[in-house]
Amino acid sequence: MSETTARKFPLLPMLGHTKGNRSAVTCALKCDNACAGDVCNTSSNSYFRDIASATMSRRAALGFGAAGALAVVLGSAVTSAEPASAAGLSKAAKEGFGKSKLQFTAIKPVDKAVDAFTVPEGFTWQPIIRWGDPLFNDSPDFDLNKQTAAAQARQFGYNNDYTDIVEIPDSKGRRAVLFTNHEYTNENIMVPAGYDAVETRAIGRAAHGLAVVELERKNATKPWSYVKGAPLNRRFLSDTTYELTGPVAGSALTKTVADPTGKSIKGTFGNCSGGTTPWGTILSGEENFNGYFVSPGTSAADKRYGLTSKPTARLWELDDKRFDTRNAGYENEANRFGWIVEVDPFDPTSTPKKHSAMGRFKHEGANVIVAESGHVVAYMGDDERFDYLYKFVSKDKYREGDRKHNMGLLSEGDLYVAMFTGNSPAAEITGTGAVPADGVFDGSGEWLPLVVGGKSAVAGMSVEEVLVYTRLAADKVGPTKMDRCEDVQPSLHTGKVYVACTNNTNRGTGSSEAATEVNPRNQNRDGHIVEITERGDQASTTFNWNLLLVCGDPALPRATYFSGFPADKVSPISCPDNLAFDSVGNLWISTDGAPSTIGYNDGLFKVTLDGAERGKVEQFLAVPRDAETCGPIIHDEERTVFVAVQHPGEEGTFEAPNSYFPDYVPAGTTPARGQVRAPRPAVVQVFRG
Ligand code: FEO
Ligand code: CA
Ligand code: CA
Ligand code: CA
Repeated sequence: MSETTARKFPLLPMLGHTKGNRSAVTCALKCDNACAGDVCNTSSNSYFRDIASATMSRRAALGFGAAGALAVVLGSAVTSAEPASAAGLSKAAKEGFGKSKLQFTAIKPVDKAVDAFTVPEGFTWQPIIRWGDPLFNDSPDFDLNKQTAAAQARQFGYNNDYTDIVEIPDSKGRRAVLFTNHEYTNENIMVPAGYDAVETRAIGRAAHGLAVVELERKNATKPWSYVKGAPLNRRFLSDTTYELTGPVAGSALTKTVADPTGKSIKGTFGNCSGGTTPWGTILSGEENFNGYFVSPGTSAADKRYGLTSKPTARLWELDDKRFDTRNAGYENEANRFGWIVEVDPFDPTSTPKKHSAMGRFKHEGANVIVAESGHVVAYMGDDERFDYLYKFVSKDKYREGDRKHNMGLLSEGDLYVAMFTGNSPAAEITGTGAVPADGVFDGSGEWLPLVVGGKSAVAGMSVEEVLVYTRLAADKVGPTKMDRCEDVQPSLHTGKVYVACTNNTNRGTGSSEAATEVNPRNQNRDGHIVEITERGDQASTTFNWNLLLVCGDPALPRATYFSGFPADKVSPISCPDNLAFDSVGNLWISTDGAPSTIGYNDGLFKVTLDGAERGKVEQFLAVPRDAETCGPIIHDEERTVFVAVQHPGEEGTFEAPNSYFPDYVPAGTTPARGQVRAPRPAVVQVFRG
């Protein structure tokens, strides 16, 4: 604690400004009140109109499951998975959909006031790792009331979004690495009111970033535990160096006084979803990065990216000049964020990368599949109202077993943005969500080039400008304005690509674009899922599309659509966010925002994609009060599911918590070692038992 103990953590002046579906706290701390401000996209366009690659089942894709992919030697000690074939689609793809070993009876929706983690009958749950858990041999135990930044830097960070677990080959299923990111912090419930302000800001910075943690278990029927002091354990902090790769590396647009090379960047912030690559690395999307910088806020680029001159929610600009880009020498600092990050979880000394070839926007995440041609394709959403869906196609081809080569694939390639055209008359798209006369929301689409063959496809912009100011470049080529693309994930069973459009309550209001066939509801509160079928292989520039789901609670008087499955036989679902597949090809969806829309806690849902039950939505779990469900991992062969529980109890205060997840220490009792009577974000496993 410093001498500035009198300085309280600032009350957040923007609390209460929530226009979207999120809690005021989430809006302020996570999204920098994106929904409270003006729409960033004021362009006129479209107002008129191996892990076996992808992550089929991430586990199968990684080669540890039924898909039977091959493990390859990654280095001296560890191995990872490679696709079953360069085509990306697994053996399971040829065999069609099967019956999952993970059978369950859907839970009933859980009222938003309930502070409980709810699982189906016959299942149980426990955390693998929680905020504050010590990672290294020298890490102090978590002490809720005596937190320091130094301790936090050696402990598990806060608020996990993308999460994956990759078994360490040759460990007989007993060792694995857990990767997760630490998207943002909820200082209002992390530290007491009046806690030292400088230290609180430093704790917040240390609780951001990424983490790799080794897991162990006695055998495949037992739950995982994390291993304190394991050799692969790593925290990525605000001063961790990331190498910027690709066309923008070394550009004048990314140089600062602290980094005259323009390719050596400190830290990553606002990491949301991600993906696991066929070569066993992890991708993580830098999403709401704008909320970490004070900027002039006057340029077209600042406005398009939501960068403003107001103080940031966490006030880090008081501690480090780089967080105020009005400071001389730091004008480009914000250009060094908004990228896809790639991490090698198997090499704790490796330098993580930021891939400029994949464009700069509010990256939700990236999911990779290997095309028939051998090129690697990544699908990516820009999570902002009326922003776009993107696709990256690598210049070089995937080489099975050549991990060093494959780790360079995302550094060079073509970048596209999606344009969707509906096939029903515009008059039939009423904005209510009513299905048009042909019985389906569907049509065709085109991937519009932004960078192709190393050259800019956008008039008046260089390659560097297209990649740094990707939103501005995309505006010029006429893509479709979407309802906040979150996870975008290809199925390894079918190659079809699923896009979670989480919501957009601004659609059809004021001067904003009204409903179109691909975003068919005005004031879209509950979101929808787009299903894309590429016309050729995954690298194709044309596609067909249809909507799989138009989400909501069918019991409420708002239109919903479940691909024809009876609406009275589905679990209510709202605000789809993260996507995953199980080993037999079912889609799993986690949600973020349901408490504010349909009044239930967020959850995880299985959606059948094939056969007579296509469109059937079944709720598997619900997270506790105020929490968001993130990072689902479906190990259905082991009847196990993992989720990250973000911001439990975030609408409470430190002194009056809204949640006691996950330790649930009873009032008046002394917590066991390592436990606290306070909410803690955590990675949770759910298993039979
Ligand atoms: Fe961090 Fe797009 O949700
Ligand atoms: Ca149609
Ligand atoms: Ca998300
Ligand atoms: Ca989210």
